[in-house]
Amino acid sequence: MLPLVDKPIIQYGVEEALHSGIQNIIIVTGRGKSAIEDHFDVSFELEQLLESRNKKDLLAIVRQVSDMIDVSYIRQKEALGLGHAVLRAQELVGPEPFAVVLADDVIESETPCIRQLLDIYEFFGAPVLAVMEVPNESISSYGCIDAEPVSHNGSRDRVFRIRDLVEKPKASEAPSNLAIIGRYILTPDIFTSIGKVEPGAGGEIQLTDALRHLLRSRPIYAYKFDGKRYDAGDKLGFLKATVEFALQRHDLGGPFREYLKTLVL
Ligand code: G1P
Repeated sequence: MLPLVDKPIIQYGVEEALHSGIQNIIIVTGRGKSAIEDHFDVSFELEQLLESRNKKDLLAIVRQVSDMIDVSYIRQKEALGLGHAVLRAQELVGPEPFAVVLADDVIESETPCIRQLLDIYEFFGAPVLAVMEVPNESISSYGCIDAEPVSHNGSRDRVFRIRDLVEKPKASEAPSNLAIIGRYILTPDIFTSIGKVEPGAGGEIQLTDALRHLLRSRPIYAYKFDGKRYDAGDKLGFLKATVEFALQRHDLGGPFREYLKTLVL
């Protein structure tokens, strides 16, 4: 719920999914996270107050949030890992393909990242993960893929067919510098794979390990997405995102830029 400028981080992820054409959102929450449910709920009293005071701009912002009404919640009682969190959503997802958004990864792009992945999913008819190149010394913070380039739309530098994948490898053992970023298009057979894997890195049920299991029975693709990713779960990444998003704002960008110029750096 930490805001980037004036919008909670999670809302960027929800809006990306909505702008990609996804209408049903499931949020996996845990203890002490009820503020998320309140945020996406209809704020009846606030809307009435703003209406009576004729604050149209603010009312529009509040309505934009409460109009995202098709949000359901499922609780993950213990933080047992990303794979476990995804498995919690199995019943609500049902027998359909679905997207996973890790909201800490905020992605700014012309075409929403999830939409880019959906286009690849629709073309290849197989699960797709978002990847980006990271410096070798950072790869141990990510899931990492071993993959071969595949021709798509006349180029071979964006789509990869995955040969293997490993969660948080040591830099010296990483098969590439292609890191998994928190966007996935998955098919319901991933749930069976999640149920089969043992706890992995950090003692957690890892989605990467389940994908490795699934790879035995079907092809999985990776897509080097177009856009800029901020790691809002990291203090420095959060600060960078805040500054850059504020600079882009019509109402704040100008005065904020002037303020930054006064700083002795
Ligand atoms: C998770 C995934 C990892 C991925 C990362 C992207 O890790 O397990 O494969 O590279 O998100 O942000 P986490 O950052 O939750 O440790």
